[in-house]
Amino acid sequence: MQQKLIPQKKQIHLAFVDPEQSILVEKDEIVLTALVSAGIPIKQACTNGVCGVCLTPLLSGEIDYANRQPHGLNEKEKQNGYFLPCIATCKSDISIDRPKVRLR
Ligand code: FES
Repeated sequence: MQQKLIPQKKQIHLAFVDPEQSILVEKDEIVLTALVSAGIPIKQACTNGVCGVCLTPLLSGEIDYANRQPHGLNEKEKQNGYFLPCIATCKSDISIDRPKVRLR
């Protein structure tokens, strides 16, 4: 009998690096933590979804904020597909563009 494997890891596809690459994350791992461990340059400050410094475009896939609130995202940023990696985990494999580094 074949055992069914439950996939625990998700992939973050980095569409902005050349050559493109993907990193593997644990299902409960915060996206920002995974990016930092992989050496991806990304700005962070509050790490709790408030400041918006880590703002990153989500190109495809689904992320999950669980019970955390993305206060650092305004309506326009939400509509334009940005998310806050400091409070997000991957619900599916995702693809992201270059984090929007900005100062407030
Ligand atoms: S680091 Fe402040 S919202 Fe992500």
